Amino acid sequence: MSAVIIDTDKCKKDKLCVLECPMKIITLNSDTGIPETVHNAENMCLNCGHCIAVCPYGALSLTSMKVEECHSVAPNWNPGIETIGNYFKARRSIRRFKNKTVEKEILEKLIEITAYAPTGHNSQTVEYLIFTDKEIIKELTLHVINWMREMLNNAPDIGKSMHFDMITRAWALGVDVVMHNAPVVIIAHGKKNNPNTATSCAIALTHLELIAPALGLGSCWAGYFTWCAMTYPPLRKALSIPDCNGIYGTIMTGYPMAKYYRIPKRKALVEWR
Ligand SMILES: Cc1cc2nc3c(=O)[nH]c(=O)nc-3n(C[C@H](O)[C@H](O)[C@H](O)COP(=O)(O)O)c2cc1C
Repeated sequence: MSAVIIDTDKCKKDKLCVLECPMKIITLNSDTGIPETVHNAENMCLNCGHCIAVCPYGALSLTSMKVEECHSVAPNWNPGIETIGNYFKARRSIRRFKNKTVEKEILEKLIEITAYAPTGHNSQTVEYLIFTDKEIIKELTLHVINWMREMLNNAPDIGKSMHFDMITRAWALGVDVVMHNAPVVIIAHGKKNNPNTATSCAIALTHLELIAPALGLGSCWAGYFTWCAMTYPPLRKALSIPDCNGIYGTIMTGYPMAKYYRIPKRKALVEWR
């Protein structure tokens, strides 16, 4: 819920905010030509701030978001398709991490930028649970191993097809191919009753994974961990995430050991119509 506040000295009555609003709740006052919120439509505002973003003159604020709180877009914000294409293609799933702590400020920066990922209805309700204690991460990983052992007993076809036999054998030999001894684990979770939460969490972690290399970090999705956290009560309990929340993705991160010199080829399945 929000309403527009116009600095009438700065407003040029160019209607850009009216055209931009995704909910179409900004209109021009028929007498003054100054933008205003459509009568009784404040509760439809997404608080997305597009009206603030699109105004060249900084004339518009929302009751929930002042223009002064919103950074200007840097003129060179778009590095171009060559640079950005290479950056995206050169991202790799990192499974060997340096035995080095990731500074809290780096993780805070990572999350701060990730918070700009799109969320359904601009709900911004993705919740992050971050583990940075290697002993605790090991305890959580042990739950995954126990779950895999139970799966091998109770549903051997699934267990074997997902290589749980090899993974549990490796664990017994001291090799962690579930969380790869990552120093940091980030779980995205949120309210189950919001139909967009799962997608918003996946998008947020995708952004996070792409931001990570710019901070010197490497990361990898932890699919086994997430699957276990979604279905195995002992891990769920150990995470202490409220029942009303779903767990929708996990990323392990840390400083990468390896440097990559080539970009493995990938395919795109496209049907043009
Ligand atoms: C949803 C999802 C779950 C994944 N789970 C795991 C995992 O549990 N362990 C792992 O080592 N890699 C995992 N990965 C990483 C993939 O194996 C990896 O993306 C793929 O091999 C391609 O490599 P690249 O990311 O370096 O291009 C996962 C990736 C995704 C998208």
